[in-house]
Amino acid sequence: MSQDAKKRQVAEAAFDRIRDMLDANTPIGIGTGSTANHFIDVLGESGLQIGGAVASSDATKNRLVQIGIEILDLNSTGSLSLYVDGADACDPRLNLIKGGGAALTREKIIAEASKFFLCIADDSKRVDVLGEFPLPIEVIPMARSLVGRKLVELGGDPAYRQGVITDNGNVIIDVHGLSIVDPQALETAINQIPGVVTCGLFAHRRADSILLASDAGVIELTRD
Ligand code: 5RP
Repeated sequence: MSQDAKKRQVAEAAFDRIRDMLDANTPIGIGTGSTANHFIDVLGESGLQIGGAVASSDATKNRLVQIGIEILDLNSTGSLSLYVDGADACDPRLNLIKGGGAALTREKIIAEASKFFLCIADDSKRVDVLGEFPLPIEVIPMARSLVGRKLVELGGDPAYRQGVITDNGNVIIDVHGLSIVDPQALETAINQIPGVVTCGLFAHRRADSILLASDAGVIELTRD
């Protein structure tokens, strides 16, 4: 099965998994990327009414508007019952690397604001130790060089993602060469560097559940 077919498969499984949590009065959070896009498509095809969505990017907003879902401001929804999003990598403890699509900051905000974070991915994203997928970091433009030097001190090999400006007007640094054995400690250390908006490690607020699509079907990883 192709990677894209697995993404569609896991999006369908996610819809089945959370269908009982969806109704016309309940807003949810929806993330960014090709897997999240498949989830939006499945939601649209279902015809089910939901109480609007908080989107993690302008691209997701546009896709949701196309299927008639109202876009909500997180400042007016309060906490959300559910957030559905993809990931670039996940470990057995449900820590994630996110930000391949440069939407990590809004993704992290919505994840933090949500009671249940359902991550959806194909099985190529599953690793024992995070770090092979370069860790994205959103950075205020004037701090790019400073942050780069600090990341070298932390043992990383930073690369400026050329030509990408985030929805928040910032730049992305991708950090190669890390073996992330303590994701929470590294998330804290990177987020303390002046100029860092946030790093793409989701360890302090990891997923509550991950649905992973493989040739053998979809499996669910939970925290216990
Ligand atoms: C965007 C993200 C995405 O969730 C991540 O890049 C996965 O993307 P895809 O579903 O296309 O593989 O973090 O910032």
